[in-house]
Amino acid sequence: APAPKRRRFRWFRWLWRLTYLSAIAGTGYLAYGVYELRHPDDQVEPDPTKKNLVILGSGWGAVSLLKKLDTDLYNVTVISPRNYFLFTPLLPSCTTGTVEHRSIMEPIRSIIRHKKTAVKFYEAEATKIDPERKVVAINDNSDIKGEMNQTEVPYDMLVVSVGAENATFGIPGVREHSCFLKEIGDAQQIRKKIMDCVETATFKDQSPEEVDRLLHMVVVGGGPTGVEFAGELQDFFDQDIKKWVPEISDKFKVTLIEALPNVLPMFSKQLIDYTESTFKEEKITIKTKTMVKKVTDRTVEAEATGPDGKKTLEVLPYGLLVWATGNAVRPVVKDLMSQIPAQKDSRRGLAVNEYLVVQGTKDIWATGDCAVAGYAPTAQVASQEGAFLARLFNTMAKSEAIESQISTLSQSLNLQPGDAAAVSRDIETHEKQLRRIKDIKPFHYTHQGSLAYIGSERAVADVSWLNGNFATGGGLTYLFWRSAYLSMCFSTRNRVLVVLDWLKSKAFGRDVSRE
Ligand code: FAD
Ligand code: NAI
Repeated sequence: APAPKRRRFRWFRWLWRLTYLSAIAGTGYLAYGVYELRHPDDQVEPDPTKKNLVILGSGWGAVSLLKKLDTDLYNVTVISPRNYFLFTPLLPSCTTGTVEHRSIMEPIRSIIRHKKTAVKFYEAEATKIDPERKVVAINDNSDIKGEMNQTEVPYDMLVVSVGAENATFGIPGVREHSCFLKEIGDAQQIRKKIMDCVETATFKDQSPEEVDRLLHMVVVGGGPTGVEFAGELQDFFDQDIKKWVPEISDKFKVTLIEALPNVLPMFSKQLIDYTESTFKEEKITIKTKTMVKKVTDRTVEAEATGPDGKKTLEVLPYGLLVWATGNAVRPVVKDLMSQIPAQKDSRRGLAVNEYLVVQGTKDIWATGDCAVAGYAPTAQVASQEGAFLARLFNTMAKSEAIESQISTLSQSLNLQPGDAAAVSRDIETHEKQLRRIKDIKPFHYTHQGSLAYIGSERAVADVSWLNGNFATGGGLTYLFWRSAYLSMCFSTRNRVLVVLDWLKSKAFGRDVSRE
């Protein structure tokens, strides 16, 4: 009978229309995003009688706070030595040129220019916080300095969101000889050094031992930073370097060193095993139960613990060393902690209460990697904390405004007996409103899962779903990883640039020029 055929055809037509409409809607959304980015509305000048809210940092915690904060309610000042927000989850991809560094940076100037009421920004480092005098000492450490490059900024409310620095545990030689992977500059340095090692290894009459050393890429730390970097590096070699410099095909080697018995300790056992077996396939050597004790300009000295518990010293010559052993407290945070008796037992950062108030202080809050709230130092935690503070501060300002209205109304109660009833009703309405506004619950973190790229277009994901956990790894997870991070990028501009970079590196390969 012809009817089902026609129905099938109708379905196809509908599907076609739907695709067509989605394409139009998508293009419209993109065009609107671009238009909005380029044409911000005129801004209102801040009211000098409002409280000074000073935010230190321009990372995940600070920017997430800024995004949701009603800047009309305060005089907001942002201070950071970095005049951009960095989307760290794609930083390992910048070390090999899969993604270009500017694609994952969003200028802080653009972020604050899109707020309704203007926000001040000082490109400077906070060097000291004085909770007694309520001032922050700041220093312009950039290359170009004006006559004024050190000053103090007063605050009524302060948010410390300065992140963390790289942990080295005082191991000799680490700072002098290794690359870290935290900032854009680190990724650029690594990218340059990879190709420098390759070119130096192919220098005329280089000895075989020296070639082996130069092409040995050592990564210390089997957390997600180390694992993702090792995966990206091996991809770079397999997909590009090998093609252009075939003579080093069997000499390029990546080794990942981890002190614990396994890599990615925060992932489930199944995904740890999957990562380790994928690394084996990719020919990345993993050395677990191996703790680096010393670094020289050419070697890494590590203590390996065998299955019988016996310890042996291994000396590994390297060409490139990337150090990714986690976080340490920044000096400005350490200094603040030393001034507050309630912080004396805190080791990993500023201990905060359930409203993210720094314990032992009244007007200082902390978010992200510099705060100890009982969660892992991740972007997910920092951005949820930032958003929580924005809600809290919006509420606080609104409730203060209502409280002052109530007090004004209360004063007028004994003036006109006839008006008293109306004023009381007004007060009651305001009090109800106040109770509703003030009903702000303590900070609660919602874990959405952990994702990591492990190389050869595979990723692992521990996703929280319907009160359970869902662990998955492989090629489909890699597509999920890409779409999740793409949707989390800060702006439409970042999203478009990242997609173009992915297409570019797929079509033309990654660039092997050294600069
Ligand atoms: P940051 O984002 O580090 O921001 C700190 C800000 O403070 C910066 O702007 C800095 O310039 C500024 N600052 C520093 N010192 C001072 C000072 N003295 N005064 C004023 N400002 C100062 N987490 C995830 O959840 N998922 C991931 O996939 C993920 N991938 C990562 C990949 C890499 C390579 C790295 C390094 C980290 C990754 N993380 C990830 C962790 C995540 O980036 C951090 O947890 C997050 O950046 C913490 O946010 P924050 O705001 O505390 O600090
Ligand atoms: P990490 O703290 O997670 O891991 C560092 C690893 O280095 C540890 O496993 C530790 O045992 C090892 N280590 C320390 N000293 C060592 C030594 N001397 N020799 C050998 N190994 C040593 O640090 P990482 O990876 O930098 O991550 C920092 C934070 O950022 C974490 O909270 C992490 O979850 C988050 N992050 C999340 C990512 C993701 O979700 N995809 C990606 C990158 C970071």
